[in-house]
Amino acid sequence: MAGRDETKMSDLHTDAQTLEDHFTAAIADAETLDALEQVRVAALGKKGRISQLMKGLGTMSPAERQQAGPLLNGLKTRIADAIADRQALLHAAALTVRLEQERVDVTLPVAPPPVEQGRVHPNSQVIDEVIAIFADMGFDVKEGPDIETDEHNFTALNIPPEHPARQMHDTFYFHQRADGSRPLLRTHTSPVQVRTMRSEPPPHRFIAPGRAFRCDSDQTHTPMFHQVEGMVIDETTHMGHLRWTLEEFARAYFEVETVEMRLRPSYFPFTEPSMEVDIRCDRTGKDVRIGQGDDWLEILGCGMVNPNVLAASGLDPDIYQGFAFGIGIDRLAMLKYGAPDLRAFFDGDLRWLTHYGFSALDVPSLYGGLSR
Ligand code: DAH
Repeated sequence: MAGRDETKMSDLHTDAQTLEDHFTAAIADAETLDALEQVRVAALGKKGRISQLMKGLGTMSPAERQQAGPLLNGLKTRIADAIADRQALLHAAALTVRLEQERVDVTLPVAPPPVEQGRVHPNSQVIDEVIAIFADMGFDVKEGPDIETDEHNFTALNIPPEHPARQMHDTFYFHQRADGSRPLLRTHTSPVQVRTMRSEPPPHRFIAPGRAFRCDSDQTHTPMFHQVEGMVIDETTHMGHLRWTLEEFARAYFEVETVEMRLRPSYFPFTEPSMEVDIRCDRTGKDVRIGQGDDWLEILGCGMVNPNVLAASGLDPDIYQGFAFGIGIDRLAMLKYGAPDLRAFFDGDLRWLTHYGFSALDVPSLYGGLSR
């Protein structure tokens, strides 16, 4: 018996030594963490060679186990330690490689992210500013179509066929339709007055920013341009309210403490009386300065809504009254942001937009500042 046991133990010794040599070499040869993991599984995994060998301990006699136990445990510990050492080494090497590869040159300029590169067109910015100002005074925002009927654009606004005011508008007409009508590109935003009064019950207090079209092109005119229409209709609104509203608007828009305003008698078919509004400015320097100086600058047309317009829109002029105004948006943008030629606004030149445009993150508001 003793002889057989001795042989068995000596076999175990040989096996253990063979495994130790084999795995020690395999660990040293493992060049990557993955390869090392494969070695670990092959040695110490559930079905690993060393684990298998250790399972034999259970079937041994206590005397055998006393010898084999320390032998196999020693083997297991040494292999596990060797793996841990090699792992630490490979980790460190992998980190060194990554640090080499991911090196950054901190002296390179930083490319701005798209949200900082994109620009909001000054016109869109000004429309947002105007909306912020009037929304604060309780105005809604309305819209109407760019392609209008003759009736909305002219007739309902007290400009009947053959009226001389039609010639003043240099209208773009479409071809005549089968029913005899002739659509047009709206020459102003005023048809939104008619559309809103016809579709919603009074009282009304709204602005309507949008595009308008006239066959005209020079430094201050483009065939497509922008206006903001404004309208207040109820039973008591009068010209004092109009004046206050416009003064508040000009003060807020030009971001000055006081704006001196001049209302000049004028003529529009859709208002009676009609006025054009000038603001005091200084044009002696390169830029126009608002709120000081000895010059006047026309910024808008306005008036008390003509009873004919109210009637054409379904309101009783004996009950309802109010004011309307129309502001040229592009003009306001040029004034505030110092762009000299309106045609450049619509050239689509990125260099122009980069210079005159606004950050997409600067949303105008009365509390946060309109143009900062
Ligand atoms: N629609 C006019 C234009 O384009 C501007 C205008 C003037 C609008 C007076 C109004 C107004 O609402 O009351 O020339």
